[in-house]
Amino acid sequence: MVLVSAKEMIEKAHEGHYAIGAFNINNMEWTKAILAACQQANSPVILQVSEGAAKYMCGFKQCADMVKNIHDHMGITVPVALHLDHGTFEGAKACIEAGFTSVMFDGSHYDFAENLEKSKEIIKLAHSQGVSVECEVGGIGGTEDGVTAKGELADPEQCAKIADLGVDFLACGIGNIHGIYPANWEGLSFDQLKAIKERVGDLPLVLHGGTGIPVEQVQKAISMGISKINVNTDLQLVFAEATKQYVEAGLVDDGKGYDPRKLLKPGREAIVERTKELIREFGSDGKAWN
Ligand code: 13P
Repeated sequence: MVLVSAKEMIEKAHEGHYAIGAFNINNMEWTKAILAACQQANSPVILQVSEGAAKYMCGFKQCADMVKNIHDHMGITVPVALHLDHGTFEGAKACIEAGFTSVMFDGSHYDFAENLEKSKEIIKLAHSQGVSVECEVGGIGGTEDGVTAKGELADPEQCAKIADLGVDFLACGIGNIHGIYPANWEGLSFDQLKAIKERVGDLPLVLHGGTGIPVEQVQKAISMGISKINVNTDLQLVFAEATKQYVEAGLVDDGKGYDPRKLLKPGREAIVERTKELIREFGSDGKAWN
């Protein structure tokens, strides 16, 4: 199966009350590991790339080509979408051109009228190419320069206006933030999620900042209409920890332990295991079709 748009897998997840994991990739190791995990778990998956990570990997075209080549080389049969995470207006257009099958246009930092206008344009362009679209209302906070911003709450009326544009799925702040949650985090706002869901009807919703949210809250959010969960930091942490253990055990100096294929293996295997665990928590295991 070639790369697919994320529309069908997210709609099936929404109907079936589970969520699709959208895992950020950083390089070839991440791509191989996440694809292997999804194949083993027989789960559909979204591989997503931020504009910063795409720059690090030498551009959108390189990301699209790398994912397609690895996917084909590994003989992956579960549905896989390649998605732009937090795209700019120009970035989303460039990804559609480069062969991504899904894009997020994040206009949450514009005033709402401009967000709406730009979202409309991206949706029209993407849909003309069979590419699915995620938009965002209400910024998702996070840690920048050591300061952790509180997660914003999206306005249900604004969510409804974006829903009316025909967006495929919508990211809305419900107190979630990117990165590690501070000790005094108040948890997800289920009242806000309920209010948003009531206004957007059947539109599937996206939970950003999937690292470190207690499983019960994740599963409650899924039961209330969250159908895509973004995870980045979690897999970075397990990769770093496994690599650290390899180094601290002195294995770099053991024979050819310095060979990158050996040095990066524990980290890659840790990503495979953690991804499978997350897939089970999200309930998408066994949900692939081919
Ligand atoms: P985390 O890094 O907190 O898992 O968030 C990922 C994310 O939401 C990407 O858009």
